[in-house]
Amino acid sequence: MHEIVEELERKRERAKMGGGAKRIDAQHAKGKLTARERIDLLLDQGSFEEWDIFVEHRCNDFGMADNRVPGDGVVTGYGTINGRLVFIFSQDFTVFGGSLSEAHAEKICKIMDQAIKVGAPIIGISDSGGARIQEGVASLGGYAEVFQRNVMASGVVPQISLIMGPCAGGAVYSPAITDFVFMVRDTSYMFVTGPDVVKTVTHEVVTAEELGGAATHSTRSGVADLAFDDDVEALTRLRSFFNFLPANNTSKPPKRPTPDVPDRVEPSLDTLVPDNPNKPYDIKELIFKVVDEGEFFETQPDYARNIVVGFARMEGATVGIVANQPMVLAGCLDIQSSVKAARFVRFCDAFNIPIITFVDVPGFMPGTAQEYGGIIKHGAKLLYAYAECTVPKITVITRKAYGGAYDVMASKHLRGDVNFAWPSAEIAVMGPKGAVEIIFRQDAKDPEKLERRTEEYRTKFANPFIAGSRGYIDDVIQPRFTRKRVCRSLAMLRDKTIDNPWRKHGNIPL
Ligand code: HXC
Repeated sequence: MHEIVEELERKRERAKMGGGAKRIDAQHAKGKLTARERIDLLLDQGSFEEWDIFVEHRCNDFGMADNRVPGDGVVTGYGTINGRLVFIFSQDFTVFGGSLSEAHAEKICKIMDQAIKVGAPIIGISDSGGARIQEGVASLGGYAEVFQRNVMASGVVPQISLIMGPCAGGAVYSPAITDFVFMVRDTSYMFVTGPDVVKTVTHEVVTAEELGGAATHSTRSGVADLAFDDDVEALTRLRSFFNFLPANNTSKPPKRPTPDVPDRVEPSLDTLVPDNPNKPYDIKELIFKVVDEGEFFETQPDYARNIVVGFARMEGATVGIVANQPMVLAGCLDIQSSVKAARFVRFCDAFNIPIITFVDVPGFMPGTAQEYGGIIKHGAKLLYAYAECTVPKITVITRKAYGGAYDVMASKHLRGDVNFAWPSAEIAVMGPKGAVEIIFRQDAKDPEKLERRTEEYRTKFANPFIAGSRGYIDDVIQPRFTRKRVCRSLAMLRDKTIDNPWRKHGNIPL
């Protein structure tokens, strides 16, 4: 017995050394932490329960029979973040480049299955050379087993991917299915085909960083939600992010005590919207002033900046915020912002997180680029997401709510529960100038007449009262009382239940 215990400990220590001191040094020299160091930083101290530390690959080809490392290139198990359960896998680049073997995949699948059974989030840390080349198709099968579980876990438990090294080829599709993807600048990249293949096929010369680095994915492609400077920053921020998330789709969002009172009055909001309707202002100022303690965790801050999405708390409980940003493209809805917001709304809906929507939208972005790119289909995604969603929905129109974009942005007609407007709201089919140019085309050559017509239109429609008279908004509120009114609405909606008709699944315009 004593000998077995000693043997076990020797094996454990051997496994903890991964690919050995030299490879660990090489990992550090790249500015990266090891798989275990990452877990230590992410989880509460001493909370990690490791599984399958003794698992080895079963490959005997290409000299692999004599080359087995316990753990097989991925550290898996569960632990807690600020006391809340989470399952984790962390690929170990020092062992066969973190490449995915059949056994490596089985380890990942085991903790995913367990996470789904007990209803706890899954965090995956990718740092891998992809499919274990020596294993061939067994490795491909392993990937597909992971993908299948990603899909089954989707909407059941939150899934977060941290990309902290290479993630290439089909391997990218596991993180792509997860709810949030965080990347590290300069040390991580994701692409379906690398720079060499790109050069051969399209003759483009591009570096790995340009093709699939954190900057590319957090600003251009939208694949990543956030980019961080190094591993430590990414892991620390992930700990804060995790606090916003519910454990699963049957639990309520987490709540924590806050000194911020629900009826806090913010007089400065009364002057947030400029008198000139064409002048921009920062919608984030409104968010910061309304939510608990001004704490807002924005996701995708550098992608489709004309819409702002992220998590905050009201009276201590998590809420999702969606807000048009007048500072960027006048807050227009375009392809990228529609898709960004639609995915966020669906995440909130899947995990019982109420949504607060701040509206200042002049409409959908015009132009051939948008039409050829499919704004019809992509804009419909946001509409679909809001219409399908059954969590509490509170909408505050601060200024423009024009045309189809009025309908889309959590309007009353899409089952908005509480719809407020500020006195500065303009709810109409389109802006006064555009409207008058169409309906009074005969006056086009008479600027004075046109100006009179525009003024007439503005007085009639560029206010919240017509929508109010039809009950499309529930109340016109003073900006300074926004927090109080939203908090009361959330409290009223706490036990809201509505069901959509039974169906296998809807057919969102993908
Ligand atoms: C087995 C691998 C490996 C792999 C790396 N290694 N990738 N072993 N299978 N896929 C091993 C190396 O042999 C080396 O072992 C160690 O990991 C570190 O690799 P280096 O090349 O020395 O590191 P670096 O210079 O940092 O380069 C990292 C890398 C490169 C860019 C990831 O290793 C690379 O290009 N690897 C192959 C990538 C690839 O083509 N993968 C398959 C893609 S297809 P030693 O013993 O020397 O330390 C795919 C399909 C998935 O993934 C499909 C899913 C549906």
